[in-house]
Amino acid sequence: MQQEELAHLLDDLLLGEVRFFCELPSTNTSALEWLSKKPMEYSLLVAEQQTAGHGRLQRSWHAAAGASLSFSLIVYPTPIEQAVLPLFSALAALAVAQALDSFQPTKAVQIKWPNDVLLDGRKCSGILCEAAWQADRLAGLVVGIGVNIGKHSLPPASDLLFPATCLQDMLDPPPERWEVLHHILRNFIGLREIFPTPLFLSQWQARLAFLHQAVTISNGDQKTEGIFSGTAPNGDLLLQQKSGRQLAFPLGDVSLRPLDSD
Ligand code: ATP
Ligand code: BTN
Repeated sequence: MQQEELAHLLDDLLLGEVRFFCELPSTNTSALEWLSKKPMEYSLLVAEQQTAGHGRLQRSWHAAAGASLSFSLIVYPTPIEQAVLPLFSALAALAVAQALDSFQPTKAVQIKWPNDVLLDGRKCSGILCEAAWQADRLAGLVVGIGVNIGKHSLPPASDLLFPATCLQDMLDPPPERWEVLHHILRNFIGLREIFPTPLFLSQWQARLAFLHQAVTISNGDQKTEGIFSGTAPNGDLLLQQKSGRQLAFPLGDVSLRPLDSD
C-alpha cells in the first residue's frame, strides 16, 4: 500500500489529509503530535505496523504487519460534543460494529461497554480516544482504532485480559483490510450526524454485551458485583446491586467482565 493509493481508495469520504507509514511506534502518539500543526478535521494516519501500540493505562496493543488494521483519525469536537467527550469511544465502537455487520458475520457483533467490539464474545477491535488540551481548551481529539484482521494480529494468549479473535476466523470470506477501514470511516462520519442524540445512544445500547447479566466492575483492585441494568444518557454504566442500590460507573475508569469469568 502506498499513501497515494490509500488516499485514492478513501477519496469519496472527503477526509482531511491521509498519511500512511510502514512502521510507527503508535498511530495515536503520532496523531497527537500532528494535532499541534492543526491538520484538517478527519485527517487520517494509518500504519502498516505499530511497535508500541497502546490501550488505556499504557497497556500494550499488539499489531502485526499485514494482519492488523491500525489507524488514528483527527476530530475537532463541537461544544455540544465536548460535553460528552468520552462517548466518542462509543461512537467509534458502533462504527466498527456496523462495519463488521455489513460483512455478514455468522456470529453476533456486540460491544463490551463502553468500546470493545466483540465477535462471538471475543474482542476483535480496540479503541483508544485521546484528547489534546491547551490549558483548559480542547485542541482536538485523536480516535485510535485497531482491528484484528488476520491470525497474526492476535497477541499470545498469555497477554490477553479478555478472549480475542480476528476477522479471518469469524467472517467468510474475510474482508479486505482497506475495505474494512473504508466502512469504519464511512460509518463514523455518518453516525456523527446523530451523535450524541438519544437515537445514537439507543443504537449503541442495543449492541451492549452482558446487558441484564451479572457482571464485575473493576477499578484497580476494587471490584463491585451486580446486574448490568443499562446506561445513563452520558454513557455511564448502571449497576444494580442485590441491596437494591443502583451505582453509576463513568466511561473510561473501569473494566467490565461477566461475573463467571474471574
Ligand atoms: P478493559 O477490558 O479492562 O476495559 P480494555 O479492553 O479497554 O480494558 P486496554 O486497557 O485499553 O483494554 O488495554 C488493551 C488490552 O487489550 C491489553 O491489556 C491486552 O490484554 C489486550 N490486547 C492487546 N492486543 C490485542 C489484540 N490485538 N487483540 C485483542 N486484545 C488485545
Ligand atoms: C483497547 O484495547 O481498549 C485499546 C486499543 C487501541 C489500539 C489502537 S491501534 C491504533 C491506535 N494506536 C494506538 O497506539 N492505539 C490505538
